[in-house]
Amino acid sequence: MNNKSSRIPGFYKKSLDERLRIVAEWAGLSEEEVNILRNLGNLPEKIADSMIENVIGGMTYPFAVAVNFRINARDYLVPMVIEETSVVAAASNAAKMLRRGDGIIARADKQYMIGQIHLVNVSAPRYKAMKIIERKDEILDHARQQDSTLIRLGGGPRDLEVRVVDTRIGPVIIVHLIVDVLDAMGANTVNTMAESIAPILEKITGGEARLRIISNNAIYRLARAWARASPEDVGGENIAKKIVEASILAEADPFRAVTHNKGIMNGIIAVALATAQDHRAIEAGAHAYAARTGQYKPLSFWELDEEGMLTGSIEIPLQIGIVGGATRVHPIAKIALKILGVKTARELAEVMAAVGLAQNLAALRALVHEGIQRGHMKLHARNLAIMAGATGELIDKIAERMIKEGRIRFDYAKKLLEEYLKGEK
Ligand code: MEV
Repeated sequence: MNNKSSRIPGFYKKSLDERLRIVAEWAGLSEEEVNILRNLGNLPEKIADSMIENVIGGMTYPFAVAVNFRINARDYLVPMVIEETSVVAAASNAAKMLRRGDGIIARADKQYMIGQIHLVNVSAPRYKAMKIIERKDEILDHARQQDSTLIRLGGGPRDLEVRVVDTRIGPVIIVHLIVDVLDAMGANTVNTMAESIAPILEKITGGEARLRIISNNAIYRLARAWARASPEDVGGENIAKKIVEASILAEADPFRAVTHNKGIMNGIIAVALATAQDHRAIEAGAHAYAARTGQYKPLSFWELDEEGMLTGSIEIPLQIGIVGGATRVHPIAKIALKILGVKTARELAEVMAAVGLAQNLAALRALVHEGIQRGHMKLHARNLAIMAGATGELIDKIAERMIKEGRIRFDYAKKLLEEYLKGEK
């Protein structure tokens, strides 16, 4: 039985090394394990230690670049950070299929975020809602004063929406402050504004402001991407038809739609991680959007047009930023943005939507063609060969043997390597 206590007063006040020592002792980490964990990789200690609390080390994910992307008639190299094999290769592959003409076309809405204020204990809530709307300009003006930089750059509060919702604690007035956050993700600004107007709303309604926070249901911050491929581009008419069929199955079946969208998020979140976005916000918003009709639906669709071309489209809320937050603090995120060369959050959203669409095409194509496992297994086998110590030509030789013999295991990779090195095979 574990009788160790996790109650460690002042843990957060200790230095990184002190904290690491405590944890090492607690978990019985070896010297080697401590050293590996202590390695912060390409994140300077000062930054790591100030980004989150109780830091004891770092964890590095591979940073890759997807190639072949042509979006809005411009070529992009797309940074991706992810732990799953095949995603980057698949994105690059599908991007190649979608290069014709101007490539993938993508457009993002203005970057409007919603700040919410929930007012409880309000009498005559519908009447009070009118009074709020009546004073909209004054309220927006007050919110405007919270972020002079945003206003100077042309962003700021745009509108106010008021709803009355009946709940188990009685009617609640829910006010939405709509803010153009320009190139920021916007949470900080919108939260500050929501908090700042709450007292005014309390005064107008006689109620009490409870939650004053952004809504991650970013329905006014959609990004869309669409593209056309000839059936030959994707491997023939038969495959094109089956991709359309797979899209229809996702429309009809929420269980499939979730996996369909998971494939889209493989690409989008990989870019989000590389550029240090709040990927939980993106996920939460995307899935809420997928479920907006009451049934969970796919975020993308594949159809054949009148010329028999395969067309794909995606619509997804993307709450991302290129200024502020970790994006501007993490040195690798800054490099990722430089590789991308995006100038605005809107452009980044367009790239991400395009990546999601391509990622989805790659997944559907593999699923209706050779199945997903074959490609996965190939990479898995290669990884095992590399882990076993194989280099150069031996990597593929060993991987192919393991696949052919249906024995894709680390111990077998090691055995094969030994055999090859001894020159027995
Ligand atoms: C695996 O990470 C993603 C897929 O399952 C997506 C899909 O099924 O469309 C392949």
